Amino acid sequence: MWITQNKPIIALAPMADMTDSPFCRVCREVSGGDFVIFREMVSAEAIVRGNEKTLKMCGFDEIERPIVLQIFGGDPKIMREAAEIIVCANTPLCSPLRRGEILRPDGIDVNMGCPVPKIAGKSKAGAALMKDHERAVAIIKELKAANLGVPVSVKTRLGWSKDDEILEFAQKLEQAGADAITIHGRTKKQGYSGVANWDRIKEVKKLVSIPVIANGDIHSREDIARCLEITGADGVMIGRAALGNPWIFDMRNTKECEIAKIDVVKIVLRHAELHLEHYGEEFGLKTFRKHLLCYFRGFDGVKELRQRLVRVEKYEELGKELESL
Ligand SMILES: Cc1cc2nc3c(=O)[nH]c(=O)nc-3n(C[C@H](O)[C@H](O)[C@H](O)COP(=O)(O)O)c2cc1C
Repeated sequence: MWITQNKPIIALAPMADMTDSPFCRVCREVSGGDFVIFREMVSAEAIVRGNEKTLKMCGFDEIERPIVLQIFGGDPKIMREAAEIIVCANTPLCSPLRRGEILRPDGIDVNMGCPVPKIAGKSKAGAALMKDHERAVAIIKELKAANLGVPVSVKTRLGWSKDDEILEFAQKLEQAGADAITIHGRTKKQGYSGVANWDRIKEVKKLVSIPVIANGDIHSREDIARCLEITGADGVMIGRAALGNPWIFDMRNTKECEIAKIDVVKIVLRHAELHLEHYGEEFGLKTFRKHLLCYFRGFDGVKELRQRLVRVEKYEELGKELESL
């Protein structure tokens, strides 16, 4: 059960194209087991269609547990079918996911906050659900009726255009049966601008009795403590601050984890190794470049190194470049 009562929940945020299996494995390997992983969103419709790439995105390594898979979509029946496939509730489509064993994530999360037009527009999914409470409620009710055996949570924002819309929406989600709710402290209209409004999350926490996880602008241990204190929330979720920084979840030391350059190099090489294993040599390290840029964003005097790193195609070349550090 990823929803814990005895201590604050610490979660890695779902981030499309970033929180894939290799990155999540690295987070777990370097930070230990005291946090829950939310994997990048996947399309419910693509799962139901049996799209191989999407089904592969749902796979995970046991080390990633506790792990929550996030789905997006606007059709309650399709959302239910997709969730059933993911938790392998006896459907023929399970087989591509199994790879010899039954995969059963520790939770299903519904994306009700994505602002991307492709998702929040025609698909009536993501952030659009904040404007269509009836549909949002129907999705949660369908998922709960499926008796998946794992919690069904929602990740949303403060509202579509106004930051108090969440007050009514959160209560409706709770009544529909949602087991937990993560709130990014911004509206859809804000996108990523401005500062996350943790005070509004505090108001939601007072209104509902399901666990509330606060999200937005948490960059450090101090921020975690401050956010928990301000919001009174049951947990926090960390997104961008975890990119290139997978050791942020390591709560084993009392001090902020100071990481030496030599360790960063080791972690980057391990991440690259897992990335190649997952995506295959054919793509090489092209799709790994975004992570490389994150790992070295704060380093002094590595401008040239970063320029060389983004041209690296092979694992061996990467090793050589990093030796110069
Ligand atoms: C590159 C990127 C991809 C994201 N993809 C998703 C996603 O798949 N599902 C989701 O619910 N939120 C997604 N988000 C939003 C984050 O989960 C999080 O709510 C947001 O970044 C605010 O938290 P932060 O300030 O800790 O980064 C994404 C954010 C970024 C930056």
